[in-house]
Amino acid sequence: MKKNCILFAVVILLAFLTSCKNESDNYIDPRGTDYAGSESCIQCHKTQYETAFHSSHFKATSPATKENILGHFTNGHNTFVYDKDTKLVMEERNDTFYQILYKKGKEVEAHSFDVLFGTKHAQTSAFWKDHYTYELPVSYYKSLNSWATSPGYSPTVANFGRKIGKECYACHSSNIASRYITTSSDSINFTNMEVEDFMDPNTIVYGIDCERCHGPAKQHVRKHLKFPDLKVAQDITSFKNLNRQQKIDACAICHSGNDKLKVKSRFQFKPGDDLLDYFRGVPGSEENAHFDVHGNQLGLLAQSKCFKKSETMDCMTCHNPHANASENLASYSKICMSCHQGIQHNAATSKTTSASVLANNCVECHMPKTMSNAIKFQASNNKEMSNYILRTHKIGIYSANK
Ligand code: HEC
Ligand code: HEC
Ligand code: HEC
Ligand code: HEC
Ligand code: HEC
Ligand code: HEC
Ligand code: HEC
Repeated sequence: MKKNCILFAVVILLAFLTSCKNESDNYIDPRGTDYAGSESCIQCHKTQYETAFHSSHFKATSPATKENILGHFTNGHNTFVYDKDTKLVMEERNDTFYQILYKKGKEVEAHSFDVLFGTKHAQTSAFWKDHYTYELPVSYYKSLNSWATSPGYSPTVANFGRKIGKECYACHSSNIASRYITTSSDSINFTNMEVEDFMDPNTIVYGIDCERCHGPAKQHVRKHLKFPDLKVAQDITSFKNLNRQQKIDACAICHSGNDKLKVKSRFQFKPGDDLLDYFRGVPGSEENAHFDVHGNQLGLLAQSKCFKKSETMDCMTCHNPHANASENLASYSKICMSCHQGIQHNAATSKTTSASVLANNCVECHMPKTMSNAIKFQASNNKEMSNYILRTHKIGIYSANK
């Protein structure tokens, strides 16, 4: 009897252990069986995981939980006024967050925050309705520490009808499945007009994760789990073996603006791919174009002499791909000086600025903060447009330096 009991306990324990093991083996990534999911990388790449996990890339989209959501929900800080009778109020109700439209004090429409976009300077949100996401009319901006109109939205009318399509997710997430239907055909070009009509919330992989940049890694994980002594990476694209253009392309797929002339979905891009297979024109190639500071770092950088005249400069010259942009401006000066050793400013510049200021602030003068022309927003009860300001990647000599 006692023996049976022990046997029974052992069987249960074994069943339990194998089921645990199976559970991690059986993780199904919405992208398919080639993908392992970021959690599986921790055991072997703790350093990369720990920095990347806290990066803006990982939070480029996130579920609208209390921890992730930015902006105020307390009285006095949670209202956007459209006119004397109409206001939008940000409210928390039973752990769900809403934007609620009131007319003459009566609630007329309420939509929940479901998907969040961004964390660094601003956060825009979307709600799910009939298998599609729609942008909420008011967003949170860190520069104001307050709510203001979502970019391009009216300060006098609340609009809940603007779709957030797959394009946004293709730069801000690692996956979302959608379906296209053919609505009509263009009899001149013999092409079908395709309209996206359905997105599946269960297929979202939030944020830009490890495999979004490194490509599917299930085989890599399997191989290294099976052969723990292997020290050379198996079954994964190595950035070390990519040429300069391929490295740039791996970032430029999302950092060279939103060119409408796209041939393939950004979601299909894998490291080593050629960007020319995705866009009809070469991103960042136009000499005289006025690229916006928002979303087009490559376009601007490519216009700089530093980039054109050096054979090595890419995004990793100044950025760790797993971490946020450093906010320590002096750290960039060291990078500038690695190419510009012994830089001599002319007498006029040296006279007005001390040597130590010059040495530590290259970026302040040569990559100045610049207003975006693409993104503007309006605070409640304010006629003025607020500007969205980022540092330009066009490294150059600016007249404001004088
Ligand atoms: C069981 C251990 C293990 C797991 C799990 C694992 N890796 Fe690796 N990985 C390695 C080893 C070993 C190397 C080679 C040594 C190194 O570069 O750290 C490597 C190297 C890499 C490299 C560098 C390749 C190169 O040559 O430049 C990348 C990128 C990478 N892994 C990505 C991932 C991703 C993404 C995941 C999760 C989906 C993951 N790894 C999970 C063991 C593992
Ligand atoms: C799949 C699209 C995508 C790819 C690929 C991508 N990025 Fe990004 N990146 C983004 C988005 C979106 C943001 C803004 C995230 C946010 O704040 O919500 C961002 C933000 C950043 C930031 C600012 C983060 C901060 O908080 O300071 C840096 C720096 C950056 N990316 C560099 C790179 C580099 C370098 C590469 C290539 C190795 C790269 N990115 C590849 C989409 C991408
Ligand atoms: C924004 C794109 C991006 C994301 C997200 C990303 N990586 Fe990387 N990773 C790179 C690039 C680019 C390199 C090559 C860096 C270089 O050559 O300097 C790299 C290099 C590596 C390496 C080689 C060693 C090293 O640090 O240079 C490993 C291992 C690695 N990544 C693992 C991961 C893991 C694990 C994750 C998720 C936790 C991850 N990466 C997320 C772009 C990314
Ligand atoms: C071509 C890629 C791309 C597309 C498409 C795109 N974004 Fe972005 N977005 C970025 C990058 C890169 C950044 C961060 C750096 C910057 O502003 O240049 C960013 C920044 C943001 C931010 C501010 C994030 C922060 O942390 O401060 C929000 C909010 C945002 N995007 C929302 C959206 C929405 C909503 C859409 C669709 C209407 C969209 N984006 C489409 C690439 C893209
Ligand atoms: C990989 C090497 C490299 C790095 C890193 C680099 N530069 Fe340059 N830079 C160059 C080269 C090469 C030129 C062209 C010199 C020439 O024309 O003789 C240049 C030109 C310049 C010019 C003159 C621009 C003009 O339009 O006349 C300025 C200003 C400049 N760099 C500032 C910087 C600053 C600031 C940084 C850091 C944020 C930096 N550079 C980082 C290589 C680099
Ligand atoms: C010569 C150095 C240099 C190079 C090369 C470079 N960056 Fe940057 N990047 C910077 C600096 C400096 C900042 C601003 C940091 C700050 O002000 O906190 C920055 C900030 C950013 C940001 C955040 C913008 C914001 O304010 O939110 C993104 C995104 C970014 N870089 C992407 C890229 C991409 C993509 C590439 C390659 C196409 C690239 N960078 C190449 C120096 C560089
Ligand atoms: C206070 C603003 C300021 C700072 C800080 C600054 N520069 Fe400059 N820089 C200028 C101005 C103005 C010029 C053009 C007049 C001149 O040559 O002095 C210039 C010119 C240059 C040139 C072009 C010189 C030539 O002969 O064509 C380079 C390269 C350069 N700076 C690099 C740097 C680097 C690297 C740093 C950081 C170590 C830096 N600058 C810091 C304002 C600044």
